[in-house]
Amino acid sequence: MIKRCLFPAAGYGTRFLPATKAMPKEMLPVMAKPLIQYGVEEAVEAGMEIMAIITGRGKRAIEDHFDISYELEHQIKGTSKEYLLDDIRALINRCTFTYTRQIEMKGLGDAIYKGRVLIGDEPFAVLLADDLCHNEGGEGVLAQMAKVYAKYRCSIVAVQEVPDDQVHKYGIVSGKAIGEDLFMVDEMVEKPSPEEAPSNLAIIGRYILTPDIFDLIEKTEPGKGGEIQITDALMAQAKEGMVMAYKFKGRRFDCGSIDGFVEATNYFYELAKGGG
Ligand code: UTP
Repeated sequence: MIKRCLFPAAGYGTRFLPATKAMPKEMLPVMAKPLIQYGVEEAVEAGMEIMAIITGRGKRAIEDHFDISYELEHQIKGTSKEYLLDDIRALINRCTFTYTRQIEMKGLGDAIYKGRVLIGDEPFAVLLADDLCHNEGGEGVLAQMAKVYAKYRCSIVAVQEVPDDQVHKYGIVSGKAIGEDLFMVDEMVEKPSPEEAPSNLAIIGRYILTPDIFDLIEKTEPGKGGEIQITDALMAQAKEGMVMAYKFKGRRFDCGSIDGFVEATNYFYELAKGGG
């Protein structure tokens, strides 16, 4: 039902300098696979086929990754290494990749707004590839959220509980519990202090958004850090109608930070060793 997934990937990735000086953060590999490929695989698993990527200067490697490399493929054809490109070839055959650039880094809300031309007037998913999610033996986070969307037909944010001393890093939501893992959002604050935080439910990098969000972003003034915050536009949407917060099943690694990245690498290494 939801066919398009937007990947805001224009950020500078300053926490990973100097690695991200000439290479997009989204191309950092966990094991031998770049973060953005994990994201595209998660979107495909949720039934999405059109990948809309918001890039910026110095991000060309993302486009090259989702394309055929004739020379390379010719070189390894018939060798024992050919299978290493099977997964990426399958994605390229199955999906359509579209791109637009965010010229100035004005925040996540602005990056999503730039995707309007690629999305049109339909509900869509948003995936931040530096939040790497994995639900061992079960459905991926976007597939779980697509099911919630099928029932409620409103914007949905993925949330996870974080310790009090971490709330200042996230958009924090609170709301009325609809079930064990679902909340109707009534408050949403971007990067609050522990005193300001309405709960410890933090938004992570997975969203399903209804297209009216674009008009709301257009009306959103710069917020925390002088950036256009998607959290502010979502709060307006929650006031006008309904926004849900979904406590997903699975693990999430903040691969935009060194600690999260190392943790993810260890996790996927152990999984591969165990044949998972
Ligand atoms: P981050 O807050 O992680 O920023 O953005 P960043 O620039 O990528 O990384 P650091 O903090 O400098 O290390 C969250 C997500 O939003 C995207 C980023 O690419 C990342 O996926 N983003 C953020 C944009 O696409 N444009 C923006 O203007 C801001």
